[in-house]
Amino acid sequence: MRKLIRLLAVLLLVVGCDNNQKNLEPISTEEFLIIAHRGASAYAPENTIPAYEIAQQADADYIEIDLQMTKDGVLVAMHDEKVDRTTDGVGFVIEYTLEELKQLNAGKWYNSANPGLANKEFEDLKVPTLQEIFSHFGDDVNYYIEMKSPKIYNKMEEKLISLLMQYNLIKANEKIPKVIIESFNEDSLTRIHDLEPKLPLIQLFYFKEEATLSVQDYNRLSTFASGIGVNISAVDKDFVQEVQLNGFQIHLYSINNELEMKKALNLKANGAFTNNPDMGISVRRQFEK
Ligand code: G3P
Ligand code: CA
Repeated sequence: MRKLIRLLAVLLLVVGCDNNQKNLEPISTEEFLIIAHRGASAYAPENTIPAYEIAQQADADYIEIDLQMTKDGVLVAMHDEKVDRTTDGVGFVIEYTLEELKQLNAGKWYNSANPGLANKEFEDLKVPTLQEIFSHFGDDVNYYIEMKSPKIYNKMEEKLISLLMQYNLIKANEKIPKVIIESFNEDSLTRIHDLEPKLPLIQLFYFKEEATLSVQDYNRLSTFASGIGVNISAVDKDFVQEVQLNGFQIHLYSINNELEMKKALNLKANGAFTNNPDMGISVRRQFEK
């Protein structure tokens, strides 16, 4: 019964959504995208230059960067709103100026937490700014950038777009886009779309139970999003097909073992966030044989 209802909803939507689809930048590749989650964060401190370098060396399709912002308005790579988990400091990123944030150590925690993977190179790591990441990697990688907690940061969207323009990273009509922007915050993504429609957007969802989206959800998504990001535990093949039938990509998170990577490929999702991009690429290669 659920399948029938879903199919009807999809048909309704496919008929209905044309009249409000804005010109969206498609993610038109058939390739199953390997997205290095916070960089290759299984092998180096998350959201640091070495984590992104290892992802680049593994040939990941994207390096994923989580964004926060300092008191003096600088975009920096960090997952949490607080510095406590991934530096030797305490408190909220927004309470630090960039100069103060740069005093913190962003690597020692990883060596203590992962003695088997500890690396002297990580001992003096700092929190990178987005600008440092762009100047380090330039055009040589693709960027999958998550605006974290944009509600608490003033003009995060404008700052992100201006930096992308400064580094000439906003391109158009690419099968694999140079930059994809993601967020759990829909208002922030629609703001990005209004400012720069050429940027493909991924609306993130976390479903405690089974993933479901209504016709209204799809209609709303069709005005700004090229796809969605969803926790793999909440999806099945029907949902993946429904999302794709509605013209959206679906990227699954976070997938850190071969079994789940095979599951994502068997679900025919369009990509996966993984801390181990090397594993992802190897499983994808076997799957494609
Ligand atoms: O960005 C996709 C996925 O990473 C969302 O969850 O908490 O790992 O940023 P989180
Ligand atoms: Ca993320």
